[in-house]
Amino acid sequence: MAETLKTIFGVSLVGSGSATPIQRLTNDELGLRVDTNDSWIRSRTGIRTRHVSGPNETLSDLSHKAGRAALKMAGWDPKSVDLIILATSTPDDLFGSAPKVQAKLGAENAVAFDLTAACSGFLFALVTAAQFLRGGSMQRALVIGADQLTKWVDWDDRRSCVLFGDGAGAVALEANNSSEDGLIGFYMKSDGARGDCLNLPQVQNHLPLVPGKTHQRGGFSSIQMNGQEVYKFAVREVPALLGELLEAHCINPESIDWLLLHQANQRILDAVADRFSIPTEKVLSNLFEYGNTSAATIPLMLDEAVQDGRVQSGHLIASSGFGAGLSWGAALFRWQGPT
Ligand code: UT7
Repeated sequence: MAETLKTIFGVSLVGSGSATPIQRLTNDELGLRVDTNDSWIRSRTGIRTRHVSGPNETLSDLSHKAGRAALKMAGWDPKSVDLIILATSTPDDLFGSAPKVQAKLGAENAVAFDLTAACSGFLFALVTAAQFLRGGSMQRALVIGADQLTKWVDWDDRRSCVLFGDGAGAVALEANNSSEDGLIGFYMKSDGARGDCLNLPQVQNHLPLVPGKTHQRGGFSSIQMNGQEVYKFAVREVPALLGELLEAHCINPESIDWLLLHQANQRILDAVADRFSIPTEKVLSNLFEYGNTSAATIPLMLDEAVQDGRVQSGHLIASSGFGAGLSWGAALFRWQGPT
């Protein structure tokens, strides 16, 4: 008997969740460690506090909590999930943390893997998951963005340590066979030639192996950043890519319900919003509380705005992630919420 062909047209975003460490670190407290102050950090970045993982808070714990909340909102049995993508640059295990999250969730039928694209990670993972669902081979995906960059900052470098915090956010994504695709469009970009302005490089460590031979010992240094270069990159590339995407889909910036950018610096958010004449009330921002949580910023912000009722079913969201790689991407999507 001929198998019935099921046409899959698109995806729906049906659940969100998030988790952050309990410990908060204020700007004034940071001033006890490095030569900085609340007024400088607030005026240059918009950040007031960040959450820093305590001794027993692992990346997989934060990811698990965020993922579990997204499954709950979607009303899904964990066993019904086919795919888990964990966007992170700071796994607990260099071989990947997604399988551990899968086990903690009890999502025993899901294949789970990590995806590394720094602050663009969540957006790249969302697009990747959508391709599996649109292709028809999978029905339900959990996309998690989580990072603990506070493990990797140089706490004596005031030019970078004030920016980062830890967190996790997740989205439940489901294949649908209606003509409404929740992921309206996307672009993704990489430029490794400019990667040196923000990286977390390996430390060069050669140790004797046997007479006449050495081996490399693994290990990483701390985050190295040329803030001004990254800033210029963001305010140039993000509006350019978002503009191209809006034009390609004949979407007028006025019809966007929310601008949801990677939360790196309030000045970057303001500059991008200005470029499209998007009013402040439509710009989602929570970096004053969390700082830059890398792959977590977009789903963490989305979940907060879903929970407090700002983002509602049918809302159109213009999003962009950008950062180390260099990498950047833009996506237009509609929030559906639980059905
Ligand atoms: O996911 C992407 C991650 N990275 C980013 O998004 C970073 C993008 N870049 C930025 O957000 C900004 O470039 C920073 C917030 C990092 C820096 O702001 P800025 O306005 O570009 O400052 P600057 O680097 O030009 O430094 C201005 C001054 C310098 O002093 P002098 O040389 O003018 O005397 C710095 O030494 O501010 C000083 N400074 C600080 N002062 C107090 C730098 N960091 C601090 C600090 N506290 N934390």
